[in-house]
Amino acid sequence: MNNIDEEYELFKSLCNLNCIELTDTNKFLLDCIKQKGLKLKHSNGTFCLDYKIIPLSEKAIRAGINSLLNESINNFDILYETSSTNKIIAGKQLTEEYSVLLTEFQNKGQGRRNRQWVSPLADNIYLSIRFNLVEPDNIHLIPLLTALSICSALNNLGIDGCLIKWPNDIYLSGKKLAGILVESYYNKANGFDLVVGIGLNVNMQFNDNIDQVWTSLRISQNKLFDRNIIISEIISETLQVYNKLSEVDLVTFVQDWNSHDYLYNSDIIITNDEKSYTAVARGISSDGALQILESGSKTLKKIYSADVSVKTKHSKV
Ligand code: BTN
Repeated sequence: MNNIDEEYELFKSLCNLNCIELTDTNKFLLDCIKQKGLKLKHSNGTFCLDYKIIPLSEKAIRAGINSLLNESINNFDILYETSSTNKIIAGKQLTEEYSVLLTEFQNKGQGRRNRQWVSPLADNIYLSIRFNLVEPDNIHLIPLLTALSICSALNNLGIDGCLIKWPNDIYLSGKKLAGILVESYYNKANGFDLVVGIGLNVNMQFNDNIDQVWTSLRISQNKLFDRNIIISEIISETLQVYNKLSEVDLVTFVQDWNSHDYLYNSDIIITNDEKSYTAVARGISSDGALQILESGSKTLKKIYSADVSVKTKHSKV
């Protein structure tokens, strides 16, 4: 066993037993675990978890996914530590159906626009799904449809109030809960090779390294969550949508978006190519573009790619 395998075993024992006695042999590994962000309480030579942690488990996740969808996941991997699940899954052999990669800890988690995605050990969900599309129909809607699927997954678990900041940031109570990073590669032989990365804050309570206003399910719902249950729900919702991508009903899609639109009728700041300007957000069009009204203009303008932040919110009209 190498150090990482030993550390993973110690982490699982800690989850199982809740407390572990400090010994000469496990001191180094316990330090590594703490450096990854796991909060441990220390007293009289014993280290105890700050809260009950259920490790990621393929068996538990698959148990919450229906058999047809389960069969379509050819590759299912859980790593203790990795750089970025998106990067690692993209480097693997492409399979016919879905590949899923999860990790307990990312040391180089990637966000959109080259930002870092803070990924402390065992607190949250770091998930990547890879699949192949021969036909590009509605491929540009994948980020938005993934965000809607995450809201449905949360809704199925009794968590209401999920909103989406175009194109695919998930908000709860005005704070960012989850982010999505979609990357696509094209080659003539296989068509489009998609990697959808999802980072969702679950049990994280404190973190000074995040430079945006954030929340977690634990903070917003005031209880601990089993990540495996949430992951089953997210995989079920997203795969069902990806399976029927070419049949998306665009009218229903826009209606569904409207009921989750975090930006609607807000004054927003749009940043593109280092330039910033303000406008009012007016929902999306059926091609997934953000519709905006610039000051003094009565014509809606479509935005296909930009960084958007909210300046002020107006009441819904
Ligand atoms: C964002 O900036 O909002 C997107 C964040 C995406 C984070 C997820 S975590 C799993 C996957 N692996 C990564 O390195 N990034 C994505």
